[in-house]
Amino acid sequence: MLMITGATGALGKLVTARLADREDVVIGTRSPAPGERRVDFDDPASLDFTGVDTLLVISAGAAEDDVVIARHDAAISAAEKAGVRHLVYTSLSGDGDHLTYALAHRWTERRLRASSLRWTVLRNGLYAEFLAAIAAPGPDGTIAAPLGTGRLAAVAREDLAEAAVRVATAPAAHAGRTYELVGEHALGGADLAAALGGSYEPGSLAATRAALIGAGQALPFQVPMLMSTYSAVAGGFLDGTSIERNDLRTLLGREPRPAIEAYVRAVRG
Ligand SMILES: NC(=O)c1ccc[n+]([C@@H]2O[C@H](COP(=O)([O-])OP(=O)(O)OC[C@H]3O[C@@H](n4cnc5c(N)ncnc54)[C@H](OP(=O)(O)O)[C@@H]3O)[C@@H](O)[C@H]2O)c1
Repeated sequence: MLMITGATGALGKLVTARLADREDVVIGTRSPAPGERRVDFDDPASLDFTGVDTLLVISAGAAEDDVVIARHDAAISAAEKAGVRHLVYTSLSGDGDHLTYALAHRWTERRLRASSLRWTVLRNGLYAEFLAAIAAPGPDGTIAAPLGTGRLAAVAREDLAEAAVRVATAPAAHAGRTYELVGEHALGGADLAAALGGSYEPGSLAATRAALIGAGQALPFQVPMLMSTYSAVAGGFLDGTSIERNDLRTLLGREPRPAIEAYVRAVRG
């Protein structure tokens, strides 16, 4: 049996859609429909992985580090207890260590390596769809995200779902492997604007931080998350050039989807 956690999130939905015709797949989610299992990493009593051979743990990263670490620790401990054979974890690309949210991913990778499980780590690059959320044009068509002249090796979420399915449905071939999965063509603000027919006038980090706080919509931990993303892109850390081996094309067995198209689709909704 293969179980997917976080199955109703954006990545989880793409993964489970690809597995819809398989009878040995179980959906794990905090809000289960009939036939699905309730899986909430915040509630250890819900973490019964009995009968699960392979567990695809989609990271539950939208929280403070201590919360995310406790969630992932609980999931791995429950998998060990239930005798799960192989755990596949969606992590963050190796060039992402300047991002505030990298810490919980690296902690989880370390916990997995020390576990009694067979494991595979999928170090996902930032989604093109996430880029659309943080570098969308304003009402006048201008992109003001503070990306400077930096570029992001964004990757279509669908490609990451496909790669996860490849690994989770044939895990033995991927045991003990850590895959870097980033886009092959890094995108800068000017590329995004050109694709949308608008302009790119990057704001400052200070102005962006003030606007984020002023809008009052970001939770306290989200402000540094977003700001570190802008800084890391602008600083040239996430353009893919420091990734030694990008495994995306190999895992997919084809050319990755153009991230710019996924960005445009996500912006246009
Ligand atoms: N690479 C990137 O660009 C990027 C961007 C944003 C986030 N991420 C990370 O990648 C993960 C998946 O991305 P996504 O786009 O699918 O994010 P998403 O749409 O926000 O989905 C996240 C899912 O995580 C699951 N989750 C949250 N809290 C949980 C808990 N306590 N126990 C178990 N599951 C929990 C939920 O699944 P259910 O509702 O089904 O329980 C939720 O829908 C995120 O959670 C985050 O860690 C990556």
